[in-house]
Amino acid sequence: MQMTSRSHPKTNGFVPGLEGIIAAQTQLSAIDGKKGQLVISGYPLEEIASQATFEELIYLLWYHHLPTTKELNDFARQLTQWRTLPDATLSLLSYAAKEKKTVMDALRMAVGTLDLELATEPNDRLRLACAIQARMPMVVAAYWRLRQGEAPILEVPEMGFAASYLYLLTGETPAPEQAKALETYLNTVAEHGLNASAFTARVISSTHTDLLSAVVGAIGALKGPLHGGAPGPALDMVFEIREMDRAEAVLREKLDRGERLMGFGHRVYKVHDPRAAVLADAAEKLYEEAGDRALYELARHVEEKAIELLVEYKPGRHLKTNVEFYTALLLHGIGLETELFTPTFAVARTAGWIAHCFEQVDHGRIIRPKALYQGRQDARYVPLSERD
Ligand code: ACO
Repeated sequence: MQMTSRSHPKTNGFVPGLEGIIAAQTQLSAIDGKKGQLVISGYPLEEIASQATFEELIYLLWYHHLPTTKELNDFARQLTQWRTLPDATLSLLSYAAKEKKTVMDALRMAVGTLDLELATEPNDRLRLACAIQARMPMVVAAYWRLRQGEAPILEVPEMGFAASYLYLLTGETPAPEQAKALETYLNTVAEHGLNASAFTARVISSTHTDLLSAVVGAIGALKGPLHGGAPGPALDMVFEIREMDRAEAVLREKLDRGERLMGFGHRVYKVHDPRAAVLADAAEKLYEEAGDRALYELARHVEEKAIELLVEYKPGRHLKTNVEFYTALLLHGIGLETELFTPTFAVARTAGWIAHCFEQVDHGRIIRPKALYQGRQDARYVPLSERD
């Protein structure tokens, strides 16, 4: 018997993909898909994404209020003290680089080693949380450099989280506008409700296991093509179009072939994805400051044509620009290679995963839903020798 969601839509209480099921209570974010709104711990995304530092946003998610200056300084100090990597992590990354593993695979393997050489009480969860959050960009950057045949950078001059990530990748102090653009990105994607990876983190945490196990599981969920998304293909599409007057023809060809336009459509947001708007603004500033708006203008034009054509080809489906389209443009403008897009998403989302784990442990029960059995009940055991 086939057990696909299509064969049993909403039978006996079964809801494929748990769509629309409320499985947690949260103070972390509110998503209104009909209005196109995202509120992060009380603050509309548009209000907080480009103004807060990433350290402030992490603090907000973990403590449910914005920090005072003293609280922020103490918190930033706690994070920076973990800008190191255990020797075992570095050895594993070197081995993974020889094997040419993807950055996400290397991240998934290496993050499990991050509590080595970490003298911490098992229930000192905040210390472990700071260590994981601070070491995520170190793992990504160290692996990236090893893959290019360069030595990992293990010491960072005094600078904020976003700037230090770029320093760890390149060995150069980034321009303030690059660091600011990255910070806006990290703030924008750090938290987004009960998405698959946050739910994974909550399920794992609900057993009261350690935080690191939950983060490793969440990375595994994010890595899947249906979740971590594909900002890379969205950028490839813009590059393939190359010139504004080719946009309509190239997009039409794709739609005629039945292809999906990458960076458009969303399960929840049907009016607009507020994250796309925030990242579009950040991208415009970045390209403007770099003195070359050409790629930004091309992307805007591609977006306009795509929306027009999606109305024509898919009437009534309300397909709008999603977060991936401007993620690609922004991260490319900052100078990140396409393969770093999803790992950078993981660096940001770690803050949200950890916040979900804290909530789950403090207020939740072990997550244990039911499965609707679809098999037979009357089978009789036949000895192996009689089965051929
Ligand atoms: N281009 C063309 N047609 C589309 C697109 C698109 N980008 N997105 C949806 N459609 C069409 C589908 O073909 C379908 O048409 P039909 O009714 O004629 O069969 C209809 O719109 C509904 O599509 P669903 O897949 O049911 O919509 P769903 O809400 O499940 O999917 C998703 C959302 C996966 C994001 C989809 O819009 C998509 O594949 N977009 C392109 C890939 C992309 O940008 N992914 C990143 C998403 S953002 C994120 O996940 C963080």
